[in-house]
Amino acid sequence: MAITIEQLPIPATLDASGGDFARSAAVSNAVESALWGHDDFRLEVEERLTLMQPTPDRERVLGVAREDGAIVANARLSIPQRDNLRTAYLQIEVLPAHRRRGTATALLAFIEQQAASRGRAVLMSWSDARVDGPDGSGARFLVPPTGAGGFPADDASAVLALRSGFDLVQVDRQSVLELAGLRGSAAAPHGLAALESGAAATAPGRYALLTWTGRCPDHLVEDYALLRRRMSTDPPLGGFAQEEELWDAARIRQTEETALEVGTSSLVCAVRHETTGHLVGHTILERFASRPAVVYQEDTLVLKEHRGHRLGMRLKAANLRRALVEWPDAQRVYTWNAEENTFMLDVNVALGFRPAGRTAGWQKVLP
Ligand SMILES: CC(C)(COP(=O)(O)OP(=O)(O)OC[C@H]1O[C@@H](n2cnc3c(N)ncnc32)[C@H](O)[C@@H]1OP(=O)(O)O)[C@@H](O)C(=O)NCCC(=O)NCCS
Repeated sequence: MAITIEQLPIPATLDASGGDFARSAAVSNAVESALWGHDDFRLEVEERLTLMQPTPDRERVLGVAREDGAIVANARLSIPQRDNLRTAYLQIEVLPAHRRRGTATALLAFIEQQAASRGRAVLMSWSDARVDGPDGSGARFLVPPTGAGGFPADDASAVLALRSGFDLVQVDRQSVLELAGLRGSAAAPHGLAALESGAAATAPGRYALLTWTGRCPDHLVEDYALLRRRMSTDPPLGGFAQEEELWDAARIRQTEETALEVGTSSLVCAVRHETTGHLVGHTILERFASRPAVVYQEDTLVLKEHRGHRLGMRLKAANLRRALVEWPDAQRVYTWNAEENTFMLDVNVALGFRPAGRTAGWQKVLP
């Protein structure tokens, strides 16, 4: 069957799309669902459309593959516009029933050409495998140069990536925390309250927690922009050629506006250093309106000069306690951490997170 590749213009609204964007979004959801065996990462077409709109920070390209006229695969390219001007980030998804026909290979060629025509020489990507996939019994794992974590060598994404000139530069752990257990134990000795107050006792009186929902208060936005800037390069990057992102107050506001349009809500907890009055760390929980049960643990950062006071645990435990109260219908929290980020992983394990997936970080430098 002939496979054709084309760029799909990203419509401003669904009315203008002629249905193709919705069909491409359905492919994304079907691939996620087949990979994980659940629909937690499903996004509604309206959410996907808003997330694909160009912003001052990112241009996006959508390519699709058709078989007999029907969209069977997607390729997305996300192209930073403000910083990281040599790089672009790609994702390819092929419906399970249409695999091993060269579709991903053809989409990759299309995407590489799109990246190269914009002067992008470094392509980055992530691919996922279930944690309950192949185990130690004979399965071979690829280990990145960091030496931390492993990714199944026979996973289709790994075979395709290596064959296409990508290097494995990092492995992340996907972890999940079931909130039901915590609801019963928030005040118990090993519950979140105890973890938070135990962490707060490490540097009594020197730091205070502040919280907001959605919009950062005006008087904190400059400090918050600095934290977001540091967050782009302070966590372990493995072999990724990631450069610092340029965050300022305008970018914070732009991101908050997009979140409002998409319908995501976020709980932010930040920590203030009492001597200087500046924010020195933050953590973000986020969820989509269409999937209230599913929460994403996004950024957690403590500035280098303020590490070693258990502020990471304090921030995370406090924000999770907020989520239990403010989002009573939330059921699970997902997070992704580099396998070499032992400090953050230890905090997560103490909070009750358990491994749920392996994520491989891939990078290719175009000739
Ligand atoms: C990875 C994925 C995109 C491959 O799509 P595809 O259209 O089947 O890939 P292709 O047909 O172009 O395969 C190209 C080569 O990759 C390798 N490959 C692909 N699937 C494989 C599998 N299941 N087992 C072993 N090798 C595989 C083979 O070398 C294949 O060439 P061959 O068929 O001539 O032997 C698809 O499995 C998928 O959508 N997975 C989920 C999402 C994902 O991981 N995306 C990649 C990261 S963004």
